[in-house]
Amino acid sequence: MAPSAKSVPQHVAIIMDGNGRWAKSRGLPRIKGHEAGAKAVRECVEGCGDLKIEYLTLYAFSAENWQRPKSEVFALMRLLEKFLKEKTPELLEKNVRLQAIGRLTNLPEACQKQLHKSIEATAGNNGLTLILALSYGGRLEIIDGIKSLLRAVELGHIDKAMIDVEMFSKHLYTRYYPDPDLLIRTSGEMRLSNFLLWQLSYTEMFVTPKLWPDFTKKDLLAAVEEFGRRQRRYGAV
Ligand code: FPP
Repeated sequence: MAPSAKSVPQHVAIIMDGNGRWAKSRGLPRIKGHEAGAKAVRECVEGCGDLKIEYLTLYAFSAENWQRPKSEVFALMRLLEKFLKEKTPELLEKNVRLQAIGRLTNLPEACQKQLHKSIEATAGNNGLTLILALSYGGRLEIIDGIKSLLRAVELGHIDKAMIDVEMFSKHLYTRYYPDPDLLIRTSGEMRLSNFLLWQLSYTEMFVTPKLWPDFTKKDLLAAVEEFGRRQRRYGAV
């Protein structure tokens, strides 16, 4: 049964965790877990489209992930590039608009090129907005936001007395999107891992023990249904 429109979150954010464990439990190299994870991404994007969710942000590569072995980082970047190249026609067909947040200039040149190509190709779509967090760190984003605000003050565009929550939000990578309503984390870990630290202030959390490659549309629906049962009070009574 599909949840009622009222209970559907406008913005879902996901920490896709457990690819490595999924592979290890099968005696496979870690990259096989990431490949299976990419298949789960496809299914999840489709599921969000079916549920008429407007924004989906996926934590695909953190600023800290650069510390992983070079071979894994390289394989992940190749996988991302391949995924974008292969799936852009499908994104177009499904009316998905691709966006990205993070320190994107840290990505390998080929990856950046493909990313911008896919973003441009899907810019006119008005269905689901799929936001990939790449080389993304929540603390770095806040630092970048502060620098951007300081620049605006120096240039005389704003007075520092005008700085408030709303204005600061407009200097973050996520300035074009509403805050997530629902955060899903797979593999049972109860951490934020430096993801959207500012934006998740009043987001409902859903943690599932399932490893990311095993996450299906059914699991997405279960999370959305659970979200529909939550009472959001934003600090009020
Ligand atoms: C966390 O699992 C996952 C990642 C760091 C990468 C996420 C990448 C994908 C899902 C595939 C590619 C993405 C796209 C958008 C095509 P982990 O490696 O930390 O797992 P572990 O905690 O079990 O080791």
